[in-house]
This record gives sequence, C-alpha cells and structure tokens, in this order.
Amino acid sequence: MKNLVILISGRGSNMQAIVEAAQSEKWPVNIAAVISNRADAAGLEYAAAKGIPTAVVVSKNYPDRAEFDAALQAEIDRYAPNLVVLAGFMRILTAPFVEHYAGRMMNIHPSLLPSFPGLATHQQALSFGVKVHGATVHFVTADLDHGPIVAQAAVPVLAGDTEHSLSERVLQQEHIIYPRAVRWFLEGRLTIVEGRVEVAGEV
Ligand code: GAR
Repeated sequence: MKNLVILISGRGSNMQAIVEAAQSEKWPVNIAAVISNRADAAGLEYAAAKGIPTAVVVSKNYPDRAEFDAALQAEIDRYAPNLVVLAGFMRILTAPFVEHYAGRMMNIHPSLLPSFPGLATHQQALSFGVKVHGATVHFVTADLDHGPIVAQAAVPVLAGDTEHSLSERVLQQEHIIYPRAVRWFLEGRLTIVEGRVEVAGEV
C-alpha cells in the first residue's frame, strides 16, 4: 500500500476529488494525511470527516522560509509518503524541500503551463486574450511552476467570461486530471526522462 500526503491551503476541492476517486475506484493507497499551512483551511473539515489524519503547520510560527519548510518536511515525513500532492497549497517552497521530494511531489496549476505561471492565472489569461486556457499537473522542481508536465486539460475562453466563470470551467477539468495523474503515479506508470514525463500504457 502506498502512502499519499496531500497539502492544502484552503477549500481543498482538488484534495476532495482525489480522495473520492481513491475511494470509489478502490485505489490501493493510504491517504495518510492532509496537511495545511492555514488552520482555517476549509478542506481540513472534509478530511477529518473522512477519518483522514490532519495537521496544520503555520508559517508565522517560524522565523523564515527555511525553518518553516523544515518543520513542514518533518510533519510530512512522519507519514512516510510515496507521493506528496500539492492541492492548492499556496506557498513558495525552498530548494532543499523541493529536492527532498524530487520525483515524488506533484502540483496542479490553473493554466496551460508554460503560459501564466504564478498567481491570478485566469485574470492573466483574460487580459492576454487567449482563446484556450486550462490546467496543468506537473512534478515540482525548484523552478516555480516549471516542472515536468504529467497532464493537461484545455477549456475554451468564451466571450463574456469573467475570472469566476473561467475559473469554474478550469476547476471542473482540474478535478478530472489531478486524480488521474495521481493514479498514474501510484500505478508506477510515470517516468521522468530528460525533464519530460513519459506515461506508460493507455492514457
Ligand atoms: C486550484 O484552482 C489550483 O489549481 C490552484 O488553487 C486552487 C485550489 O483550489 N492552485 C494554484 O494556484 C497553485 N499555484 P482547491 O483548494 O479547491 O483545490
């Protein structure tokens, strides 16, 4: 049985999609913990109601990023994760932390990377006038929002779209591609070759 640790900062709808897929598709996985950097993250309640251990590591209790990341790493490693899943975890991570989980930490970003890294991706897409937008699941590297791409989904940008309407359309796709990407990892189907992800079998 593989161990999964999921990191959230807020609503946790991607975490919920992964937990639901794991349960309904009976993945051989132990969702070992959901960890948040915010005590008020709504997703913590969902996880606790599902009987998943939860923990909070609050950044303001640490003098700097390095010490916060060290504390977070210690908490994560209590659960001996095979995979760490960032699901709306809104923190920039230090290089040693990222290196520690090299090849076993994934993130979802609400744009078609390499377009629109960083924040306010839907606003960026609308401002730029792109006609296609989407979401990307990628392995995490020290280079923010630039790691090897596991999966992407595209949605049209429609006339009259607002940040809200566009984000909702993208989020629906996030909830499809993130559980799928995590399942591929757990099935041992992902290999990183020269910075690119190869997916074995039918995708
Ligand atoms: C999601 O849209 C995710 O792609 C985004 O935050 C949202 C979290 O929603 N992540 C980032 O912007 C990371 N840079 P959720 O808490 O409901 O999963």
